[in-house]
Amino acid sequence: MINIGLIGLGTVGSGVVEILNKRKDELKSILGSELFIKRILVKNINKKRDISLGKSLITLEFDEILKDSDISIIIEATGDLEESYNYIKKSLKAGKNVVTANKAVVSKYFEELTNMANKNNCAFLYEASVGGGIPILKPLKEVVATNEITQIQGILNGTCNYILTRMFDEKLAYEEALKIAQELGYAELDPTADIEGYDTLRKLRILGTIALKGKISEEDILVRGIKGIIPFDIEQIKNLGCTVKLIAEVKSTGDKFTAMVQPTIIKKNSYFANVNMAFNSVAFIGNNVGELKFYGSGAGKFPTANAVISDVLDIVKSSYRKGNPLGTRKLKNINEKIEEPYYLRVSSEYKKKFTILYDMADEILSTTDNIAIITKEVSIQNILSLISSLGIDDDKYFLGRIVK
Ligand code: NAP
Ligand code: HSE
Repeated sequence: MINIGLIGLGTVGSGVVEILNKRKDELKSILGSELFIKRILVKNINKKRDISLGKSLITLEFDEILKDSDISIIIEATGDLEESYNYIKKSLKAGKNVVTANKAVVSKYFEELTNMANKNNCAFLYEASVGGGIPILKPLKEVVATNEITQIQGILNGTCNYILTRMFDEKLAYEEALKIAQELGYAELDPTADIEGYDTLRKLRILGTIALKGKISEEDILVRGIKGIIPFDIEQIKNLGCTVKLIAEVKSTGDKFTAMVQPTIIKKNSYFANVNMAFNSVAFIGNNVGELKFYGSGAGKFPTANAVISDVLDIVKSSYRKGNPLGTRKLKNINEKIEEPYYLRVSSEYKKKFTILYDMADEILSTTDNIAIITKEVSIQNILSLISSLGIDDDKYFLGRIVK
């Protein structure tokens, strides 16, 4: 019997319990022993749960998991940051293997937790933290051994992609689409990180750091979310023969790199334009393998729980990549060099002030209701400082980079 301690029994945690129950016999026959969840740590012991479990399984005391020498694997599936960091740190120090779905904690403490796992000779795996159910980190770790990765692009947030798809295809209001994404279990408990792009940024930090074999920190990534997009923008973007997606991208040349997360306006027939709803996709280019594309459910109970369990299986079979997957390359961020055309819409109340922005315009799309332009190739810092100097409120404009 392989005993597991589970931390968190929400969307992901309950998915893990359900899959392990349903696939108990198959897993036992593959592994030679049963995977058994011995204890589950939650925050609120009195919460009504859809899943039926023995009362004695659930606890509020982390020590009941940590100090149980029969438990060799900890699955961390909370949305908490600092407390989960402590749980993971203590577990690794105690020599327990850790699997987490929590990208916030992986992103913030990536190097420290990875080194700690190495030092204590245990596994620290986080496949579910990027791309939900898509197996992406394991293949990426393999590909970097034989390739220089020069580019990674992805749609990495199910919630944003779901909102944009439903707004674009069905003219659903932004708030309505977000509410449904929350009900479907895609969004974080507080969806701010989803819609402001920080959830995508954390995933890109993890992907980019593995791919470039050197640290890309959260601060290295230029970030803009989808908050602020309105039906007028969608109509303008449609008229351009395009769609809009929240795209994450790292590009590197030698030791220099750019990294960004931005609403990106792309041609309707391009690859990422056809990644819809809560699906995610990651594409990367290696100098030997060429381009590889990965596609699948980016969020949701069972796809995510499946990724968590695949990490557990790798631990039991000892088939995960041993050693430190993080490289030591010194990388230089050159985001300030990025100049691209942007779609910019400003609410009509700023009409008079907007004349200054016309200097930046390559094409004027609308001057009547809201004002919309396509800019020349400019740096985002230039546009943002102009917008700020004109006193335009954050919720009164929308900016999307245009990829031709
Ligand atoms: P969730 O539904 O909000 O569930 C979180 C669970 O963690 C709850 O059971 C909660 O306890 C428990 N919890 C929260 N803080 C805790 C603490 N300090 N100590 C112990 N237990 C605590 O969240 P989720 O959607 O399952 O997501 C879990 C993690 O997976 C997050 O990091 C998320 O980013 C990541 N993830 C989610 C998805 C997805 O599609 N949902 C996909 C990929 C990754 P109570 O039940 O008692 O409140
Ligand atoms: N909130 C995240 C998303 C969950 O919507 O993509 C998966 O990481």
